[in-house]
Amino acid sequence: MIIVIIGAQWGDEGKGKVVDLLADRFDIVARYQGGHNAGHSVYVGDKAFVLRLLPSGIIHEESTCVLGNGMVIDPKAFFEEVDQMTSQGISITPERLKVSSRAHLIMPYHRALDHTSEERLGNEKIGTTLRGIGPAYEDKYGRRGIRVSDALVPELLKARIERGLEEANRVIVMYGREPLRSDEIYEEISALAERLRPFVCETSNFFAQAKKQNKKILLEGAQATLLDVDHGTYPYVTSSNPTAGGAAVGAGIPPHHITGVLGIVRTYATRVGEGPFPTEMLDAEEDMANLIRQRGNEYGSVTKRPRRCGWFDAVATKYAAELNGFNSVALTKLDVLDALEEIKVCVGYEIDGKRIDTFPAVSLDLAKIKPIYETLEGWKSDTVGITKIEDLPAKAREYVEFLSNSIGVEIGLISTGPERDQTIILQDSVMESWFK
Ligand code: GDP
Ligand code: IMO
Ligand code: MG
Repeated sequence: MIIVIIGAQWGDEGKGKVVDLLADRFDIVARYQGGHNAGHSVYVGDKAFVLRLLPSGIIHEESTCVLGNGMVIDPKAFFEEVDQMTSQGISITPERLKVSSRAHLIMPYHRALDHTSEERLGNEKIGTTLRGIGPAYEDKYGRRGIRVSDALVPELLKARIERGLEEANRVIVMYGREPLRSDEIYEEISALAERLRPFVCETSNFFAQAKKQNKKILLEGAQATLLDVDHGTYPYVTSSNPTAGGAAVGAGIPPHHITGVLGIVRTYATRVGEGPFPTEMLDAEEDMANLIRQRGNEYGSVTKRPRRCGWFDAVATKYAAELNGFNSVALTKLDVLDALEEIKVCVGYEIDGKRIDTFPAVSLDLAKIKPIYETLEGWKSDTVGITKIEDLPAKAREYVEFLSNSIGVEIGLISTGPERDQTIILQDSVMESWFK
């Protein structure tokens, strides 16, 4: 059984919580794209973990975790996270953590280029996490990248750094910054690569063997559908493919081996960074945005930036459901809406007075969208920690039902708080069949 977990909106839907919740039903948990731009928060008792590069399954000692070939890995950030997890009592060994030999490395000059690229864009900047993600993927697709396996061959690593840096320094200097030194970068990265060596693995072969042994695999998407470089709100996206198709490529798993796709959907939307956000609570709704931000603790787990908050966008989420083929949905953060008198849901878009039914490709069109809302009554009572659907207030159940109908997917799980057990697992036929 191989299940993919994917964010349906612009990220931070609660993927980490859901992966952690489901991880003990799987043998292997793997990431397949992105890097340490992700921030997946998991709470277990009085312990808080923020996973950036490592799959959220790492918290479960029985899970084997994989960083797939589609990822971009900053080796320094990798070991910072490994050390952080170790200090929090998690045992991390090469037996339970595998890093793809084909994954690309984020080099110090990629970080510098992320800064210069944002500077160059000025008002049109993307608002990236400045972790070097985009420039590392540019080098990958430009066939100039440095892969994990290259870093293990000293002469190759040295030559690749010199070549990469020669180009990067031209840009870095053009922006008035100090050029970086290849000897310093080589010294730093070669030491980190040596430390990485025992973790390096031919991961697609590892998955093929696991499949033969009927092992259960969970693929943990980072970022989300609307940040996908092909399908998201381009150019205000990340540089990888978080969507379901990306999972096969980025993990090195045949697409027809994937059993199902679980979408993670928040009861409202947020966005970090720039770019169109049709249902954003602006001006007159600023108080509402502040209330949601405060109740939902909507601050970036990586950059600490306040997240932009908005109403549930059924058009965009239905688009995500169709694109990824969600078999089921985990609906998160229901409790955050407990205090609201009324809740708006965007059920259609209007551009220049015309109703449109598809998700526009052009960011200028996206910016012009006038959302068509339906307003539902709030339930005005506490749902934190509820674990049974029958204990939810009727109006909360109606809201959940409304969202499910508007995106056309059954809801298999409702989250009512950040903790593992603050969850309603519905007897959803799709999810049940997965776990048989
Ligand atoms: P991810 O990037 O999709 O893993 O999401 P983040 O971890 O960045 O952000 C989600 C935040 O919401 C985290 O702080 C979670 O602990 C928290 N969270 C997840 N599910 C719930 C929920 O049902 N209710 C509340 N109140 N918080 C939740
Ligand atoms: P998780 O996995 C929310 C956003 C950035 C920026 C854009 C491009 O925690 O949901 P990048 O550094 O990737 O080049 O930035 O993507 N972004 C995220 N927003 N959650 C994330 O990850 C994100 N990862 C990147 O804010 O707008
Ligand atoms: Mg996050």
